Amino acid sequence: MHTNSKPFYVTTPIYYVNAEPHIGHAYTTIVADTLARFHRLMGTETFFQTGTDEHGEKVVEAANARKMPVREYVDQISGQFQATWDALNISYDNFIRTTASSHIRVVQAILQKVQDQGDIYFSEYAGHYCYGCERFVLERELVDGKCPDHLVKPTFVKEGNYFFRMSHYQDWLIDHIHRHPEFIRPERYRNEVLSFLKEPLEDLCISRPKARVPWGIPLPFDDNYVTYVWFDALINYLSGLGYPDSPTFAKFWPGCQHLIAKDILKPHGIYWPTMLKAAGLPLYQHLNVHGYWQMGTGKMSKSLGNVVAPLDLVKRYGLDQVRYFFLREMVYGLDATFSEEALSGRINADLANDLGNLFSRSLAMVFKYCQGQVPTPGPLEPQDQAIQELAQAVWQDYLAFLPALEFHKALMRLWELIGESNRYIVLSEPWQLYKEQRQERLNTVLYTILEALRWVAALLQPIMPTSAIRMLAQLGISTAPAKGQALATLTWGEMQPGTTLSRGEALFPRLELQEPELKPAASPQPATAPGKPEIDLASFQQLDLRIGTIVRAERIAKSDKLLKVVVDLGEPRQVVAGIAQNYQPDDLIGKQVLVVVNLKPAKLMGVESHGMLLAAKSEGRLVLVSPETPVVPGATVA
Ligand code: MSP
Repeated sequence: MHTNSKPFYVTTPIYYVNAEPHIGHAYTTIVADTLARFHRLMGTETFFQTGTDEHGEKVVEAANARKMPVREYVDQISGQFQATWDALNISYDNFIRTTASSHIRVVQAILQKVQDQGDIYFSEYAGHYCYGCERFVLERELVDGKCPDHLVKPTFVKEGNYFFRMSHYQDWLIDHIHRHPEFIRPERYRNEVLSFLKEPLEDLCISRPKARVPWGIPLPFDDNYVTYVWFDALINYLSGLGYPDSPTFAKFWPGCQHLIAKDILKPHGIYWPTMLKAAGLPLYQHLNVHGYWQMGTGKMSKSLGNVVAPLDLVKRYGLDQVRYFFLREMVYGLDATFSEEALSGRINADLANDLGNLFSRSLAMVFKYCQGQVPTPGPLEPQDQAIQELAQAVWQDYLAFLPALEFHKALMRLWELIGESNRYIVLSEPWQLYKEQRQERLNTVLYTILEALRWVAALLQPIMPTSAIRMLAQLGISTAPAKGQALATLTWGEMQPGTTLSRGEALFPRLELQEPELKPAASPQPATAPGKPEIDLASFQQLDLRIGTIVRAERIAKSDKLLKVVVDLGEPRQVVAGIAQNYQPDDLIGKQVLVVVNLKPAKLMGVESHGMLLAAKSEGRLVLVSPETPVVPGATVA
């Protein structure tokens, strides 16, 4: 059921490299990742592309501002985007960069094609040019003579340029949108595009004189010009698939879905379809437009100093927690407000309380009453049947909500199953059944709960991949790495009685709310040890301490003190430790250690270190600090 065999291609915008990644970019990318994972788990062939947009005047300005050569600058910021997506567990298949020669070739091929068929012409143009927008703006777009987006008066520019006959395709585009109501969704954005198309569409200026903007793709038919950055950037969606000859292109292009926010609706809803049409290519299937994350204070912007870096957030709250929050909190298509209070509120209520507690108390009961093994259920009573039926109904709805981008609804529905399972435990009173030695009934109740949990975990895989796999593993379900449990074929009753479960750390530790602001104490405090002032709890809580398992250790050349160590903290991390005189590298493998993980990265003897191992100094020796019994790698220390 619900299997969708048409290959699925999902894209994010390619992000400008004139700024570092922030949570707005992270949101779109996490949504794309969720959809990609969902389709893979549904058994659909999937291709997921993200990347960076690296040409244009703004990029040159940003590089100049940092006094860096442009090439070096774009490499650095693009690398930062890629590293951020890796840290956020983004399962992209291709990370495209518009400065790659494979992309440049395709842009030139498309330009040539459109030129050959007569849709590009040269013309002298005089108009108001907004450097922020990197385009000529129309008189009617200005507010008080200024660009409403950049609040500056555009410059009057007169120059010869190449134009794409976009106006030619206006009626055709209107017709296409009417015939395919879901081409642009949700509906409000479709209406926005249609209302824009009520005015006559102007032709699009697609070149910039090289003399003014040298950083771009040369036009194949006039070397004095480079390609306008939007005409270049949109084509990434084709070049990334290996257009024109690659079988990947043939396979995935028909199922293409773009994800964007409302800021770039016009280029995607108008320029792009007309460009495709002129190039003789079929259009994308859906343009999925979402709203904006606002900060409590309004728009998120560098100048307001309220930009939130995704990695900071993840360090503080946990990756899957942040992913869950993004998808649960925003109604796709509408704006939403971001605040750390809302985030921690959801973590405590939905994750720690509802889901985390259900999971840990259920497993605890199976350990207490069934030696940690999946019990064999007996005959079902109506309340057991009700849970099973609810799970099935929730599953069906979930499979419909997710591809329709209704993530909040999918999660609300899933949380109904969690809530009902909690209530089912209260009503069935397993502890009472145990006391009364009604083992068969007890087994049925526990089996029902375990199955419900398995369904919850399976359905959470696209959204919280790490936690879901951890839950499945604790339920004794081994999934091939990166494969997970298939979603299209979930069948009630597949848990094998006798399977041994395993208990672990709390899935979603409760957060202490209303932490005092992290600031240094106002007055000097009495010293506790020479040179060490007394600190308050808040200062201590700034330390991110974790337990990790050493998976690699080696000496650092020319150093008799330092070892390069890789610690598994749920993810691998390289740390340089000054313990070479006390430990042999081989003896360290498998050892659990205490790590300060939020120490600023440093380079020691040319080797990068991202954290510090803690060791006691005793009689001139260093002795690593380890937990008393083994714990899950990445466990926090409080
Ligand atoms: N380079 C162009 C896109 C070219 S695609 C062919 C661009 N880049 S951008 O870096 O400005 O990214 C814009 C996108 O980032 C938005 O469309 C959205 O996906 C994401 N977001 C940026 N700020 C955002 C919010 N405050 N809220 C939600 N998403 C936001 O435009």
